Parts: sequence; structure tokens; C-alpha cells
Amino acid sequence: MDKLQFWKEGHGRVPSARLATKRMVVRTLCLLALFVLVYHIFTSVELRNSIHDRVTPLIQQDPSKGSTVLTEPSTLVGQPKVTIGKEKATLLMLVRNRELHKALGSMRMVEDRFNRKFHYPWTFMNDKPFTDDFIRFTTGMASGPVEYVVIPKEHWSVPDSLNKTKIQQGMEKLRTEGVIYGGSSSYRHMCRFNSGFFYRQEALKKYDWYWRVEPDIELYCDINYDPFTFMRESGKVYGWVLSMFEFEATIPTLWQHTKDFISKFPQFIAEDNSLGWIVDGANVTKAFAEKKVEGNYNLCHFWSNFEIASLNFYRSEPYQKYFDYLDSQGGFFYERWGDAPVHSLALALMLPRNKIHHFADIGYNHAPASRCPQDDASHVSGRCYCDRSRNYDNDNYSCGPRWFALNGVGIGALLPASLQNNI
Ligand SMILES: *[C@@H]1O[C@H](CO)[C@@H](O)[C@H](O)[C@H]1NC(C)=O
Ligand SMILES: *[C@@H]1O[C@H](CO)[C@@H](O)[C@H](O)[C@H]1NC(C)=O
Ligand SMILES: *[C@@H]1O[C@H](CO)[C@@H](O)[C@H](O)[C@H]1NC(C)=O
Repeated sequence: MDKLQFWKEGHGRVPSARLATKRMVVRTLCLLALFVLVYHIFTSVELRNSIHDRVTPLIQQDPSKGSTVLTEPSTLVGQPKVTIGKEKATLLMLVRNRELHKALGSMRMVEDRFNRKFHYPWTFMNDKPFTDDFIRFTTGMASGPVEYVVIPKEHWSVPDSLNKTKIQQGMEKLRTEGVIYGGSSSYRHMCRFNSGFFYRQEALKKYDWYWRVEPDIELYCDINYDPFTFMRESGKVYGWVLSMFEFEATIPTLWQHTKDFISKFPQFIAEDNSLGWIVDGANVTKAFAEKKVEGNYNLCHFWSNFEIASLNFYRSEPYQKYFDYLDSQGGFFYERWGDAPVHSLALALMLPRNKIHHFADIGYNHAPASRCPQDDASHVSGRCYCDRSRNYDNDNYSCGPRWFALNGVGIGALLPASLQNNI
């Protein structure tokens, strides 16, 4: 007798209380099973999306032309969204359509903690056209003007000069070694884009500064001053919050290529650079005097998912030449060079160290690392709500303490004196 028959027959009989209870239990179980099924279908779609992303063929079919969509001037409680902040600056996010919710989460944080007072413009970048919902919802969340950039194909593809077999072999190697994003081509495109192309987008030409915002971040503290103004007035070029060691397997030849580059262009080494941070025991004076870099890279880098920095640094001849040199070596694809070590090596070698600023007052989280300001005032004033013990600087994978030791900045560093009353 099949189950259906059984239940039909069951209905025909005088229902006993026990049978009714049994029925209830079975119904509940069926409902539960249905939920589990629906949940599985849902998560497997998510999973398929993310797998699809990892294995997207390197050479994609539809060559999309880069373009910029300027949204109509939108309204904020009946008022046009006009930027109040005085700097030529933008909040910048590279994001995919399916990350809309995470993007909105980050925007909410940045707007609430900072941008609601400044209305700086947002610039969104994607290798695919943004969906209507993405545009409508993010425009709605922004307190300033918004632009949407579709990245030109040539900024998101493998240079023709590279050996495709070697790329596949490199990806397969890192995948089998279990290196994070080891087999992902889209991750490689992203790292190359963030190393050498984001600042070349037409939409960014009008800006001097950017604040890189990733989907799914948290900001823990009000920022009651304009960090772009701070950067400009204090002559800073690059601002960071977290730093750590890179996975060596992703950059086996990056350092050698960097040394080769410096030997070709020794004039690009800056005086009082940060070589001491990236090479243990380096003699900075000697490196500058002899225009030569020696020693091993200790893998320290600024965690580039948060950056407040000058676009002009990347537009400068030294950085351009450095990127072009690295790009011609193919390591963004043969290996899996990240934009974080690329930015960091350039910054450390080509800038005096006082041009690099640690934002000790910014509470920031991007899983798995976060940092909470360590001073009392930031907490007593109610400016921050994070847990002070959650401080990546205390992790042995953090390169923060090295930076602080070399630059005379304490872990609990506050804002510069001129900004103290903003805490
Ligand atoms: C491409 O790379 C593969 C594997 O490393 C190598 O065997 C092949 O000779 C290379 N092809 C060219 C044209 O260099
Ligand atoms: C660094 O090199 C210079 C020579 O360029 C030398 O005078 C100095 O003693 C060196 N410093 C250390 C700590 O080795
Ligand atoms: C950090 O500490 C863990 C355990 O205490 C150790 O296994 C690991 O090698 C350390 N890493 C570094 C970079 O020192």
C-alpha cells in the first residue's frame, strides 16, 4: 500500500486522538522537509553563482564597451544631492550586482558615520552593467551624487602577450594547494584592475582623492572631520587602517620583479622611504644612497580594502611605470598578485614614510580582521561602539606593530593634535 493510499484509508476511519497526533507530526515533518529543500535550492543557487565566478573563462565572449552612467540629480528630502565636502574626492566601490545588499550595508555605515555631513559622491564600478535595482537602491542610499562605471573590456582581460597554458597551469597549481582564490580568474582580474586601472577610469579624472569602500564592511566610529581635507592639508598620500602578511604562494616572484624594476629605475627610490617596514633590518639610508634594494620581502602590506588615498600617486610616472613593468611580467595571472602588496611595495619604496598615514581613529571591520580605536576618549565620548579588545594589531599576522615601532606611533595613536577636539 503506498503512502497516499494509507492516508486516504486513514481518513475513512474513525480518527483516534493518537492518529491525529501522528498525522500532525508527519505534517510538521513534511513542512520542515519542504523548508529544508527550499533552503538548499536557495543556497545552491548562491553557491553556483560563486563557483561560476571562480571558473569564469579567462577569455570572455561579449566585449562590453566601458561606459559611465550619470544618474539624474536625485533628491534628498526635496533637496538636490549636492556635495558639501570641499575636496575633489569620491567614495569608490568595485562591486557586482549580486552584492547589492552588502553594498548597501557598507553605504549605510559610511553615510551614517561620515558622509551624511559631507555628501561626497559615490562611484560604483563593475565589469558588467549595473541592474536597475542596483542603481535605484544605491542612488537612494547615497547622500551625494552617484556615478556607475562599466569597466572597459581591456581593463578586465588577459593581455594578449601572456601564455594561456601557463596561466591555466598556475591557476591549477594554486587551486590544488588550497590557496584562497587560487583558481579564480575573476579575482585575478579584480587584483589587476585595482592595481593598475581603477584610477584611469574616465569618471575618476575629476577627482584627486578616493576612499575605497568594499561591500560588507563595518565602520564603528563617527568620523567628525573630513579625512580628505586632513590628507591634503597634512601632505599625506596614503591612509590605511589594517596591515598584515601576504600569502607567499600568491607572489613568489613579485619581490624579485620589484627589485629588477628598481635597478632599471633607481631614481624612483624615495629618501626616508619605508623599506625598513617591508625588509627586516633594511638600511634605508644605504638603499637611498646606493639606489639599490636588497634583502627579502617580509610580506607586510597595507590591507587595501580600506584606503583613503591620492589618485595622483597612481597617476605618477613612477607608479605607472612600476605597474606596466609588473603587468608585462604576467604575475597577476601566472601567480595571483594582489593589489595590496603591489600598492604597498610601491608606496614603501617611492614615498617618504611621513606621506603614509595610519588612521588609528577609524574603527573598521572587514572579515576576518578588524580594528577598534584604542584610546579612552573615543569610547568615553560615545564616538565608537566597538570592542577595544578586538584589535588586529595584537594578531601575530599583523604588520601594524612593525609600522608603529619604525615610525614612532603608538598602537593607541589618536588623531593629529589639530583634530583632537573632533573625538
Ligand atoms: C606556454 O607555457 C607552457 C607551459 O609553461 C610552455 O610549455 C610553452 O612552451 C609556452 N608557450 C610559449 C609560446 O611560450
Ligand atoms: C647604513 O648604511 C650607511 C652607509 O650608507 C652606514 O653608514 C650606516 O652605518 C648603516 N647603518 C646601519 C645601522 O648599518
Ligand atoms: C602566529 O601564531 C601561531 C600560533 O600561535 C603560529 O602557528 C603562527 O606560525 C604564527 N604566525 C606568525 C606569522 O608568526
